[in-house]
Amino acid sequence: MSSPKSKILSGKKSETAHYRPAFHFSPATGWMNDPNGLVYDGGVYHLFYQHYPDDIIWGPMHWGHATSRDLISWDEQPIAMAPDQLGMIFSGSIVIDRDNTSRLGCDGMAPWIALFTHHDMAGEKAGRSDYQSQSLAYSLDKGQSWTKYRGNPVIPNPGLKHFRDPKVSWHGATRRWIMVLAAGDRIIFYSSSNLIDWSKESELTCFEVADDNVLECPDLLSFDFDGHEHWVLLVSQFRGAPNGGSGTHYIVGDFDGHHFTRHHEDMRWLDYGPDNYAGVTFHNAPGKPLLIGWMSNWAYAQAVPTAPWRSAMTLPRELELVEAEGRVVLRQRVAIDIDSAAVQTIKAEHVQHHHLLLANDLGDQLLIGYDSANHNYFVDRRQAGQSEFSIDFPIRATAPAKGAPGNVIIYLDTCSVELFADGGLTVMTALAFPRASLNRIELVPNSP
Ligand code: FRU
Repeated sequence: MSSPKSKILSGKKSETAHYRPAFHFSPATGWMNDPNGLVYDGGVYHLFYQHYPDDIIWGPMHWGHATSRDLISWDEQPIAMAPDQLGMIFSGSIVIDRDNTSRLGCDGMAPWIALFTHHDMAGEKAGRSDYQSQSLAYSLDKGQSWTKYRGNPVIPNPGLKHFRDPKVSWHGATRRWIMVLAAGDRIIFYSSSNLIDWSKESELTCFEVADDNVLECPDLLSFDFDGHEHWVLLVSQFRGAPNGGSGTHYIVGDFDGHHFTRHHEDMRWLDYGPDNYAGVTFHNAPGKPLLIGWMSNWAYAQAVPTAPWRSAMTLPRELELVEAEGRVVLRQRVAIDIDSAAVQTIKAEHVQHHHLLLANDLGDQLLIGYDSANHNYFVDRRQAGQSEFSIDFPIRATAPAKGAPGNVIIYLDTCSVELFADGGLTVMTALAFPRASLNRIELVPNSP
């Protein structure tokens, strides 16, 4: 893997390099948060991401870039976008403009169009409330180099302090591009015929968001289910997730190109674990919607004990809609085949009576299983190794079970677990930092 050169970090040999994930993407050096601009083209998956190359804490945001043919091994590419006179490059998305609706293509080459948020730090520090706006950049070489559009921003700030994370997709029925973005306590929908001129369509409100909380990184997905089109809106929120800190929920509903109508009031979390945030889906990928999330949590992301990088992405997951217990819900399945040693299964016949213990000789213990008294799954990382870096880290995370428990499948990497239960209806992603590798794996009877 090639690595971008980092001013501060290159050359430092780190004692925590053993936390380097084996089959999850992490940047060679520097800070990473949200996945941005996930796009598939010609056999190659492109992952762009929020990146600060010069330190392992959040800083002036760039878009990093990595590519993969199998979604397991990734090659870092040159940094795609760096801050400019309009500000930092916050989260956003990419579409391939096949019909050259933007007229930014050239010589028959379909332009790749990135819509992202410009964040003006000086404006924020000066106490202004118009420091976030939506901008455009285009690439004529499949994402290797990017030109910022001269007329940026394409959507100036309308007077909203939080106004960010545009996710764009093509809406076939109205033959227009649709953008969803997060604006504090609401999601706003825009439409455009050329990706440059945008009109506001509607707002979705009614989110219960406390004053110190904000919505972030929405995504609008369509599914063929039950003979007709269904829509799902993914919404991340900075705090208030079921096991603390940041998390992502989803709403099943209808979208007519103008308004999103929700079909239920109950809260449905995409992932009950503490470490899956800001997940969005690929543009143009074959098959079912394919999601990657940032495998961390704003509650402690900047303190986790890795170096010379911070953060990894979740495994890629295929999403589908299914009916379960009378509700239409999302089901997730890991989209890649992982070496069997990294995948543990607690078989249905053991789930009620046993949990999985992962341990090392230093006494670190990670416990994963099903709690029949409370009918939930748990990942208990309270004794699993380093956790003193944040009071929010040592937790026993739980997720309500759906129906009778079946097989539980667990993906184990060097500092993460991803649990899929109830056939993929219940998912938990959690980091853990054992002081040595958890090389003892046993099924242990639950205490009576
Ligand atoms: C979500 C987020 C986005 C923002 C980006 C900044 O994690 O806060 O709302 O665009 O990170 O890095």
